[in-house]
Amino acid sequence: MKLKQFSLLLAIAITINVSHAQLKKQKNTSFKVGQLWYDTEGNLINAHGGTILYFKHIYYWFGEKRGDHQSQGITVYTSKDLYNWQYKGVVFEQSKDATSPIAEGGIMERPKVIYNKKTKKFVLWFHLEIRGRGYNAAEVGVAESNHILGPYKYVRSFRPNGNMSRDMTIYKDDDGKAYEIYSSRDNYDMRIVQLTDDYLNVTKKDSLLFSKHREAPAIFKYNHQYYLITSACTGWAPNEAALCVANNLYGPWKMLGNPMKGEKSKTTFDGQPAFILPLPNKKNCFIYVGDKWNPKDLMDSRYQFLPIKITAGGVAIPWEENWSLNIFDK
Ligand code: GAL
Repeated sequence: MKLKQFSLLLAIAITINVSHAQLKKQKNTSFKVGQLWYDTEGNLINAHGGTILYFKHIYYWFGEKRGDHQSQGITVYTSKDLYNWQYKGVVFEQSKDATSPIAEGGIMERPKVIYNKKTKKFVLWFHLEIRGRGYNAAEVGVAESNHILGPYKYVRSFRPNGNMSRDMTIYKDDDGKAYEIYSSRDNYDMRIVQLTDDYLNVTKKDSLLFSKHREAPAIFKYNHQYYLITSACTGWAPNEAALCVANNLYGPWKMLGNPMKGEKSKTTFDGQPAFILPLPNKKNCFIYVGDKWNPKDLMDSRYQFLPIKITAGGVAIPWEENWSLNIFDK
């Protein structure tokens, strides 16, 4: 290759690289659902199966840090607008001690963080699987911190009242009482258990909600009613979601069918529920967040932020490819 040709190619390569880097660092002004999503440093956001906590005017997005498959602890990102996220690091690490319940090689999934007003502590709950045991430990783990950004310290892990606990979520009600909603008995049962007042353990108020072989619970409260979305149990492969409603967290829960609308609604747009975010400054506005898993490279699993549509006809989650928060003003 002549020097002139080489210089030209080099210039093109540099331009492509620079524009790619610029693209990664571009400010987001909308949710591009299921697309690559970079943090403010230009790295892919790695926070799966997580939750968003709004605290003192800042959003904190906690999630599973994944390698191509392995668990790598719990990460957190912060944002003021929900579109642009700054990476703040791993807030809960796995242990180098192979005998620890949170040893590297184990699995941490579906992290949920809640704030305890009385103890002034942030409490992290997550699905824990112990190194070398696949998904057979079926425990829930608890960690705590004085600071929202951690580091979080391991408190305990266990099966709530002896029941298996795999996919789970934590719900803090308006009265400050908190609950774990969890898939149990090899995912055949969905159960609920109230947490102790310090949120560091479970009480005996533990009850079966329904036995429909469901997982990936995500919950919100609207107009004095609780809405729970779950998936069927097909591992990383997507399936049809279902919505149910109740006046009381302990039931009875009424099944309402699939809330997803649009093409691919039968497979939850190829995703699975992670959590639901009530918008702090907009009454009765909720964002559904799902994970579009990539089992070949879990780190590259994508996020599905979608607006929940509440009308006289009920609660629905229509597909949107690219949307912004002003959709709630329409
Ligand atoms: C899914 C579950 C995920 C993960 C996965 C492992 O059913 O919702 O959180 O546990 O199985 O196969």
